[in-house]
Amino acid sequence: MKVFSKAILALSVTFVFYQKSTAQNNIPKDYLSKEFHAGRREALRKLMPANSVTVIFAYPERVFSNDVNYVYHANPDLYYFSGYKEPDAALLVFKEMQGSGDTAYNEILYVRRRNPQQEQWTGRRLGVEGAKTRLGFKRVYNSNEFSKLPVDLKKFAAVVYDDLPEAAGGELQEMIASFKAKAGVKNIDKGLMDDVKVVMAYANIHNLDRILNYIKPRIQDEAHKSEPLLQQLSTGMDSTTLENVKAKLKAQYGASGLFTEYTTALRGIKQPEEIALMKKSAQLSAIAHAEVMKAVKPNMSERELEGIMLYVHKNYGAEDEGYPPIVGVGANGCILHYEENNETMLNNQLVLMDVGSEYHGYSADVTRTVPANGKFTEEQKAIYQVVYDAQEQAINMCKAGIRYGDLEKKTEEVLAAGLIKLGVIRDAKELRTYYPHGVSHHVGLDVHDKGSYAGNLEEGMIITVEPGIYIPAGSKCDKKWWNIGVRIEDDILIGKDKFTNLSADAPRTWQAVEKMAAQSSIFDGAKFPPLK
Ligand code: GLY
Ligand code: MN
Ligand code: MN
Repeated sequence: MKVFSKAILALSVTFVFYQKSTAQNNIPKDYLSKEFHAGRREALRKLMPANSVTVIFAYPERVFSNDVNYVYHANPDLYYFSGYKEPDAALLVFKEMQGSGDTAYNEILYVRRRNPQQEQWTGRRLGVEGAKTRLGFKRVYNSNEFSKLPVDLKKFAAVVYDDLPEAAGGELQEMIASFKAKAGVKNIDKGLMDDVKVVMAYANIHNLDRILNYIKPRIQDEAHKSEPLLQQLSTGMDSTTLENVKAKLKAQYGASGLFTEYTTALRGIKQPEEIALMKKSAQLSAIAHAEVMKAVKPNMSERELEGIMLYVHKNYGAEDEGYPPIVGVGANGCILHYEENNETMLNNQLVLMDVGSEYHGYSADVTRTVPANGKFTEEQKAIYQVVYDAQEQAINMCKAGIRYGDLEKKTEEVLAAGLIKLGVIRDAKELRTYYPHGVSHHVGLDVHDKGSYAGNLEEGMIITVEPGIYIPAGSKCDKKWWNIGVRIEDDILIGKDKFTNLSADAPRTWQAVEKMAAQSSIFDGAKFPPLK
């Protein structure tokens, strides 16, 4: 065969593949709709000040190994406002119409270029046409055209944007460089900016100590020292002074804070389409926990339990995990975000499993703690009951109008009283040794989702309720409590006068856990040939 005809053949093979690869049947039908994303852009516009634009870039791709990238995870904000899930993209949402007449527009989407050769290797791309038909955008360009942006960014009173990735690579990096030049972006130390945003978005008088603890490792950096407002926080203050400091930070860091403010306000209240996906994600994760309760045996490994969870998630069509699965037995259960999962024998210990799926972008966050042999010891049961009581009482408070901070107060009260009664601690002040985290966070597109912690719970919020007690060996209490780590975590939808536990399909009381553990599992007796 002549080289010439080979080339033609190669081209036509590519063409045939390209044609075929655009069609795909039997994909899920329950993704967020283009109307949902358009509605979110409209809601964002309503919050934006006059004469402003919001600019959101895709997350960069990340190398996993030679020639291999990590599975790409879209920037949740870009996905929320556009539905676009690929890298090398940017969305601009304008407050007012730009241009005039039939061609006027108030949003532009820049997308990754289509490329038949690349698509044969790494999969289909939506491209400009796909973004128009599938996502409903009217003005879509390839990302290499960003430098020809048809509007002058310097004319706006506010350009609202999030942190810009520093080493983005490829066309994303070029877009960001072009954006910085066009918008006249000033360089602010990233660590300082992150902490300023945390304070602006989350700080209130109840959680100030915890926020300061979080900032503490950086407070002596040059950048942090140059910001007297952050330094002032650590001098102690009442709520009026704190609000004053927050207002000053807001005035100074302006648009950078606005992005967090708007996305926190919007994403913190879930829309019906999001609630539908969260219900699925939480329910299927709860079913996975129930299956593991049935399957767990003392001779199994942490990794096997993780594998059963993942199998159930995939069986229901979940694309991913919301976070690295935590399966920790005994002492490992006392490490809050233990991720190694490499203990090969559970023996007769407690296993703490914090595992939640990501279904169409929405993450569940569910924890159950189960005895590997199906029966709690007296000590395990006693600690479990204290954690359960705290969780039960905090969940029962959940409804619109309750102060977020009151969930934490109630949890601390119940946990401290329980541990004092058992003789694990003598004074409520010692509680934080064994309960070092908060009781709740928003959950959604991010497992630690955007949402307000400052005021009251509102209808449409979805939050976790997750008290825990962790007593590592060597703790200053009777040895009989050592290596007991218990967390119980559920995903709670806040209603006007009620709550809905979205992960209720995983048993919670110790009695229900033991009952589930006594049942047989489809994984019982699963055996594979030994490795040679
Ligand atoms: N799985 C992380 C958390 O519970 O917050
Ligand atoms: Mn959580
Ligand atoms: Mn969790």
